[in-house]
Amino acid sequence: MTPLLKVERLNAYYGRAQILFDVSFEVGRGEVVALMGRNGAGKSTTMKAIMNMMPRKSGDIAFMGERIDAWPTHRIARAGLGYVPEDRRVFGDLTVMENLDTGRQPPRDGAPSWTPNKLFRVFPNLGEMRENVAGRA
Ligand SMILES: Nc1ncnc2c1ncn2[C@@H]1O[C@H](COP(=O)(O)OP(=O)(O)O)[C@@H](O)[C@H]1O
Ligand SMILES: [Mg+2]
Repeated sequence: MTPLLKVERLNAYYGRAQILFDVSFEVGRGEVVALMGRNGAGKSTTMKAIMNMMPRKSGDIAFMGERIDAWPTHRIARAGLGYVPEDRRVFGDLTVMENLDTGRQPPRDGAPSWTPNKLFRVFPNLGEMRENVAGRA
């Protein structure tokens, strides 16, 4: 079966420093895969390279059987591949609800669709704060 995500010989650079050296892996449909390594090993760089957020990179990346490595980041995101950066920042001037709206995607076939109400059932505290400005405690 075609893997959900297939990464082959991924190399990535910051300036002249090469960070990734021929990284290859696959993620199957329904699989949960963790990439582990010490601080500075290149985990975030791997994710940024997949999302085409690196200044220079090479390699073959296929998502649901389609090559995405030349696509701009917004197109990759629209295809359904998300990247949640480690620093978890929010837009301080927007409300909780508006912050959620910035990351929402239209429903897609076969993908779980998150509505605010489903989310607030999982995180009830967030539901109570939906109209609060995110930058205020
Ligand atoms: N913006 C950047 N400019 C230059 N080097 C960077 C930058 N971001 C990360 N690096 C370097 O790339 C390497 C991998 O970093 P990173 O992918 O953030 O590691 P991890 O996420 O595994 O902790 C480290 O040596 C780090 O110093
Ligand atoms: Mg990191």
